[in-house]
Amino acid sequence: MGENRVLEGRRIVVGVSGGIAAYKVCALVSRLVQDGAQVRVMMTPSGERFVGPVTFRSLTGRPVAVDQWTDLHETGAHIALAQFAELMVIAPATSNTLAKLANGLCDNLVTTTVAAARGPVLLAPAMNDHMWTNPVLQANVARLQGLGYEFVMPGEGRLACGESGVGRMAEPNTIRESILRILGARGGGALAGKRVTITSGPTREWLDPVRFISNPSSGKMGAALAQVAASRGAEVLLISGPGAALPAASVDTIAVESAEEMLRAVEAHLPGTDVFIGAAAVADYRPEEYAAQKRKKSATPLELRLQPTPDILQSVAQSDSRPAVVVGFAAETGDPEAEARAKLERKGLDLIVANDLTQPGAGFCADTNEALILGSRGQREAVSCRPKLEVAKVVLDQVEKLLEESSGGREAG
Ligand code: PMT
Repeated sequence: MGENRVLEGRRIVVGVSGGIAAYKVCALVSRLVQDGAQVRVMMTPSGERFVGPVTFRSLTGRPVAVDQWTDLHETGAHIALAQFAELMVIAPATSNTLAKLANGLCDNLVTTTVAAARGPVLLAPAMNDHMWTNPVLQANVARLQGLGYEFVMPGEGRLACGESGVGRMAEPNTIRESILRILGARGGGALAGKRVTITSGPTREWLDPVRFISNPSSGKMGAALAQVAASRGAEVLLISGPGAALPAASVDTIAVESAEEMLRAVEAHLPGTDVFIGAAAVADYRPEEYAAQKRKKSATPLELRLQPTPDILQSVAQSDSRPAVVVGFAAETGDPEAEARAKLERKGLDLIVANDLTQPGAGFCADTNEALILGSRGQREAVSCRPKLEVAKVVLDQVEKLLEESSGGREAG
């Protein structure tokens, strides 16, 4: 199932409290409706001052709940909404609303409905930067986190009050990503219940305390894969080399430096992994000797002996704890298809994603990638140049097909 379908038919209650970021919630609600979700909106009296209920009624095609005494159901509006909601999203969540929730106050429809919630509640704070850094507010946020509330934290930038700082509500798309992650993990995502381990970024092989062998991998491709896998409900572990980008979705990460460390982290987490994706640009060689003191510069050439590093991907594919699906990447400058196919076979992989480094907008550091996906069962899919997030979706679509086939095969057998 693609991530867009995760939201089809899902029941989401959006609570709008009183902040100017309420205008951005219109775009969020509109998008969720387009995703096929059943969306109901409830508002605090202050929320109504920023955006009228008619706007949300038009966007959702459903009545908007604005006070506790609105007769939605014989059990009362707050209970009816709480029973309906698989997920509640409070956006914007003002300082006032967060304070009330942290202390269990029920003085308007939104706070009362949250008190009756039976599923996850996602909070998207928005406020002035001094309000955001206020220790009382921060203590309320910490308390709510400790109680299991989910947060999509505010970003930094220009605030409505004219100041700059942290407090801007997360963008609608970022809030949607969190919704996808939460609902995907609760049974709607194609990868729900699957453990996906991804290596990402470069490794560093130190020569001496000040020099290392490495490569320009930014970790963007690995982060995109982690983001998409998490949004489809997978439990994701991202093992990343130094400086590698992290996904917006909250996933478990382990930071490593050398190929050896990356191998140890991968091996420690391999049992129980359903899908392994090697997107890291692992250094193929390390210096045979590490000099504990900085090597002195001299006028004569310096000769270094290099030893091959362990091949992490190959050892995963040949391990006794081999995941159901093992995916490699291949960064090539010659004949990407032939080189990648040779790696697919030699390392015993299910899929390989070939990147032609000679193409503009492909490979290291770019926000985009162009790829050729090859499979051990003859699959071949060319992916034209597009954002790495979109490439990741195509790769994970292929992974899902393989998982479906392997579980179908097991059921038939
Ligand atoms: O990080 P970005 O800046 O976003 O760039 C993305 C990327 C170009 C790094 C990524 O798309 C990519 O192609 N990653 C693999 C790069 C690479 O090292 O390819 P390779 O052909 O050398 O290795 C083949 C495969 O074996 C890779 O899956 C690699 O992770 C794995 N490998 C390689 C050597 C080694 N010692 N251990 C390994 O596991």
